[in-house]
Amino acid sequence: MMKIAVLPGDGIGEEVMKEALKVLKKVEAKFNLHFDFTHGLIGGAAWPQYKNHFPQETQDLVLDSDAILFGSVGGPVDAQSEPKWKDCEKNSILSIRKLLGLTVNLRPAPIYKELLDFCPLKTEITGTENFEILVIRELSGGIYFGEHSRPTVDTAKDVAEYDRKTIAHIAKFAFESAMKRSKKLTSVDKANVLETSRLWREVFEDTAKEYPEVKLENVLVDNMVQQLVKNPRQFDVIACPNLFGDIVSDLTSVLPGSLGMLGSASFGNKNIHLYEPSGGSAPDIAGKGIANPIAQILSASMMLRHSFHLVDAADAIENAVSEVMKNGLRTGDIYQKKEGLKLVGTVEMGDAICANISL
Ligand code: IPM
Ligand code: MG
Repeated sequence: MMKIAVLPGDGIGEEVMKEALKVLKKVEAKFNLHFDFTHGLIGGAAWPQYKNHFPQETQDLVLDSDAILFGSVGGPVDAQSEPKWKDCEKNSILSIRKLLGLTVNLRPAPIYKELLDFCPLKTEITGTENFEILVIRELSGGIYFGEHSRPTVDTAKDVAEYDRKTIAHIAKFAFESAMKRSKKLTSVDKANVLETSRLWREVFEDTAKEYPEVKLENVLVDNMVQQLVKNPRQFDVIACPNLFGDIVSDLTSVLPGSLGMLGSASFGNKNIHLYEPSGGSAPDIAGKGIANPIAQILSASMMLRHSFHLVDAADAIENAVSEVMKNGLRTGDIYQKKEGLKLVGTVEMGDAICANISL
């Protein structure tokens, strides 16, 4: 039995999640699988009933599941001081990371040649073929989870801490990923200034000794963002500490042309992994039936691949997405007036992906 906690959350979460579940049901039938879905409330969606963004009931559900399919949380930018939205992302996203001990975050940025018009970089820079950059972000340490304090009204403090064990864990994961891909790994730090970065680099260099086939390159984070804009194709797997990974993955997320194309996976030390779109809850387009469900659908395929080792099923979903891209179906975020392209809504996009998973 594969127990999946379904947490659609806020904004477009509910509508894109419906499409991901539709795709998973199609895969269930095709591959004769059985998923057991249980829905739970998180974020603003949990607030009216629980006055809490991550209620105990949802925490219990999460801990009793094999994998978590997460939507998105958060409310409109102009309503952030309302109790429903105040600290909503922090209370739900950071709390679930902590509860599940999520340490390794995969943020692939797949560049589809069909969407190159939406990539802000010139094609002389991106080239005209598909490629993918995989950002691996450390998710449990660094400045995010150090002490945060406000000693006086005029001073504030956030402490960044890393230990060898935490870095060694993500380093091993990053080298293993590089082994399965191009055998090239870029580790990002700020070792010219930060002590935590010096330890990070030391551990990556130590780990490199166990992977002689992998070419490790250490790049300072400021230089990294320059290089990513100037020549993204030189990179394949990029490993970052928590804060740098947050920023670097936002840079790579613009290359595919829309956040609506990006799934992600976070692996935890309880073996309950979490899968979510890289984009947010997009309250401005919520409920209109126009959101791109592909990010949620690709998050579901990552779940099949990584939590349940259902490689064929995951491949079937990813191939169906590529097929639909080739066939010219586009939600508004990736649509332009051009021959052969057809503007569709959330549900039609989900249907088209299902139709390409043949029974
Ligand atoms: C992300 C987000 C979160 C983070 C926020 C919402 C806490 O930006 O997942 O990248 O900073 O990790
Ligand atoms: Mg972020």
